[in-house]
Amino acid sequence: MPLARPVLGEPEERRVLEVLRSGQLSLGPRLEEFERAFAERLGAPLASAVSSGTAGLHLALRAVGVSDGDEVLTSPFSFVASANAAIYERARPVFADIDPRTLNLDPDAAAAAITPRTRALLPVHIFGYPAEMAAFESLAARHGLGVVEDACEALGARHRDGTAVGARGNPAVFGFYANKQLTTGEGGMITLGSPEHKQRIDSERNQGRAPDMGWLDHDRLGFNYRLSDIACALGIAQLERLEEMLAGRAAAAALYREALSGLEGLELPCPDTGGEQRGWFVFVVQLPRGVDRDGAVGALAARGIQSKPYLPAIHLMSFYRERFGHRPGEFPVCEDVAARSVALPFFPQLREEQIERVAGSLAAVLGQA
Ligand SMILES: Cc1ncc(COP(=O)(O)O)c(C=O)c1O
Repeated sequence: MPLARPVLGEPEERRVLEVLRSGQLSLGPRLEEFERAFAERLGAPLASAVSSGTAGLHLALRAVGVSDGDEVLTSPFSFVASANAAIYERARPVFADIDPRTLNLDPDAAAAAITPRTRALLPVHIFGYPAEMAAFESLAARHGLGVVEDACEALGARHRDGTAVGARGNPAVFGFYANKQLTTGEGGMITLGSPEHKQRIDSERNQGRAPDMGWLDHDRLGFNYRLSDIACALGIAQLERLEEMLAGRAAAAALYREALSGLEGLELPCPDTGGEQRGWFVFVVQLPRGVDRDGAVGALAARGIQSKPYLPAIHLMSFYRERFGHRPGEFPVCEDVAARSVALPFFPQLREEQIERVAGSLAAVLGQA
């Protein structure tokens, strides 16, 4: 059983074929159409499509003014790209520990890690669970910091006031890699509230060109972070069936919760509380303490079930240890969670009997069958 599988079909084929037949493969009408539809779906004022979530994080950090020597305060329990994006701008990612329930950056730990060099906060809505944005925004306001949200895993998530993650006006970055809730193969979207930020991002994703300039005139440093019209067409078709895909993931998660509830010492993703709503992306469990996690992943593979250690702590990756001198013990909650976490097969088309097979296999691997 694979870990992830995209939902693709006739609507995607039709939309992509239309673009191929039009001959306008990039910088065509699908770009704006996708941006508008995405912003509307979230209730966000504006959106800019980009070539990946990583590219989006880079441009969003530039937009809020991160540059040489700054510190960007972020979570060590994330995909590595959220921290790397700061390094692209010669800034330093500074970590603080996570909340053991939500696995998101802990606002109190973040507050304690602010220094005079802190320029921005970069909370991550990990595994699609909404980060405590109200707390981060007031922290940012008190210290004059920029805020960028890493929402790459959080399409469909909602804050306790019912607003969608990504609709608060901070630049919020979504990812459309093949395993995501919505995919364009590779791709991303920045939702945002500031027209000035959008103008800058749209220029920088397109080699630094101002909208009214000719092909070869550039008024700033830019990148090629464009999303092609082919990818945008795929995204439009995926957006049209987003509710169905999110509902499929939520249903699979509910079945997993039931099937795994009897396993002793196994920790499941935290349930939605206080009106917060997870946008289901992965189903990650924490194995009981003392279990050989990598051995369990191997034993599941031997039973035909893909799983993976997910996520490793960023500060303990070799590049981060070497570059910044990080050592085990700095962020104990993150390190404990990272050492025990396993992502199980998770996609909207998962059937009940498949989930039962995964649960049965996990029980056997844990010696609880
Ligand atoms: C939390 C998080 N941040 C950033 C990224 C980077 O996105 P991409 O792979 O689209 O560059 C991902 C996805 O892979 C992610 O899960």
